[in-house]
Amino acid sequence: MAAHDIVIYGDPVLREVAEPVEQVDQAVKDLVSTMVDTLKKAHGLGLAAPQVGVSKRVFIVDLSAIDLTAELHVFINPEIVWKSEDEVELEEGCLSFPGIYQKIVRPARVKIRALNLDGKPFEMEADGMAARAILHEYDHLEGTLFIDHISSIARTLLKGRLKKLAAAS
Ligand code: NI
Repeated sequence: MAAHDIVIYGDPVLREVAEPVEQVDQAVKDLVSTMVDTLKKAHGLGLAAPQVGVSKRVFIVDLSAIDLTAELHVFINPEIVWKSEDEVELEEGCLSFPGIYQKIVRPARVKIRALNLDGKPFEMEADGMAARAILHEYDHLEGTLFIDHISSIARTLLKGRLKKLAAAS
């Protein structure tokens, strides 16, 4: 599968609530393969299916760009089963918002349940950047974007750049 163009802010697919995957079949495997190629090409840390224009509940996280020991994880029909009460502020970007980085507060740790590429359920607990990436990518499946977490002042400051992105998409 070839890499896909990444959907940029302004495309309505990014605001849709993604549909659950009914069966982890070849079409889903092909979708994940496209997403993996797309993420690698973009040197990103995570990618959700809506970002390649497919409104399905699938995302991938690959922290190998910042941690050589990290493995790529595929999350199908994920559920966040627990979030820590303690929160951390970290700078975040999103491949659908090229060039835009914002400090965002999110839970420090998270527990997630999902299906893997074999259709088998698994649970994972994560902290640090892994927790951050999981929460960011999960949001994409709900049509929520990282700019929704910033203050209205920060959003006002970004208004012009967001308008430009949306106009070009
Ligand atoms: Ni994103």
